[in-house]
Amino acid sequence: MFKILRKEKLNSQVTLLEIDAPFVARKAEPGQFVILRAHEEGERIPLTIADYDRNRGSVTIIFQEVGATTRLLGNFEAGDKLADFCGPLGNPSHFEGVRKAAVIGGGLGTAIAYPQAKKLFGMGVDVDVIIGFRNKELIILEEEMAKVSHHLYVTTDDGSNGTRGFVSDILKKRIEEGEKYDVVIAIGPPIMMKVVCDVTRPHGIKTIVSLNPIMIDGTGMCGGCRVTVGDQTKFACVDGPDFDGHLVDFEELVRRLSMYREHEKECLDRHECRLGGVLDG
Ligand SMILES: Cc1cc2nc3c(=O)[nH]c(=O)nc-3n(C[C@H](O)[C@H](O)[C@H](O)COP(=O)(O)OP(=O)(O)OC[C@H]3O[C@@H](n4cnc5c(N)ncnc54)[C@H](O)[C@@H]3O)c2cc1C
Ligand code: FES
Repeated sequence: MFKILRKEKLNSQVTLLEIDAPFVARKAEPGQFVILRAHEEGERIPLTIADYDRNRGSVTIIFQEVGATTRLLGNFEAGDKLADFCGPLGNPSHFEGVRKAAVIGGGLGTAIAYPQAKKLFGMGVDVDVIIGFRNKELIILEEEMAKVSHHLYVTTDDGSNGTRGFVSDILKKRIEEGEKYDVVIAIGPPIMMKVVCDVTRPHGIKTIVSLNPIMIDGTGMCGGCRVTVGDQTKFACVDGPDFDGHLVDFEELVRRLSMYREHEKECLDRHECRLGGVLDG
């Protein structure tokens, strides 16, 4: 069992949990993820390692409540225990030779982008961070990102905080102003990652995206996380989750992500009618 050491609500939909998991913390690197089960009957869900503390033996996850399991997790408190917490899985991010980087987070993707920005900043790379949210209530990790970047840009779709518009608008402007990025890292909804890739492609700027297809085993055996990258079939759990964004088939990714929507809705409905009774995540 894996004890929750700390819980923090980052906004109305997003929660941070710090988990006591010394063996995972010992090996964890930015870019990797865990697969957890909230309880013994629960489904396995993948979540990115948002941070880790090897001395304390803890791993931090940040998740958005989108369905049955993430809602159930959102109800856990410090002191509660998770049944399984398996990882680190996937490949760590590699940034050798990078001198100037833009790290872009869209919504919840900011939590997944945070460890990447932290790693680059720690390597002495000149880091611009651009994070975007639908409105100011949804902003997360602004202070944390400020500490691991040289310039932080915040956008909101409705202009309620920071610059009105999209993260890709800021990136486009920075590039047009002459900024020379060795790499752009874009993490967020598939449409956002695709638009960022469309901005960087004409300039030949290497663009890394982190793909989150449906994952089941996380070890390359089930094929659930199949994505097409440069006309090749890849499994995001073992070949990724980071990929060259210019080669990703985003349309296929979006199609496959919605494959289980009916079933997920059924699970959520069942979860909601059982609130107060046995939870089924
Ligand atoms: C490598 C990886 C890292 C991720 N990191 C994070 C993270 O740090 N924070 C976060 O909030 N979310 C993250 N996700 C997405 C997270 O796994 C899903 O939000 C979660 O599984 C939803 O489960 P649910 O039961 O609450 O919702 P459901 O109602 O079951 O699903 C809601 C939506 O979540 C996605 N989803 C559902 N099951 C899975 C699955 N087994 N694998 C992947 N996606 C699924 C689908 O898009 C689905 O439409 C990550 C996914 C992957 C693959
Ligand atoms: S999750 Fe099964 S192959 Fe990747």
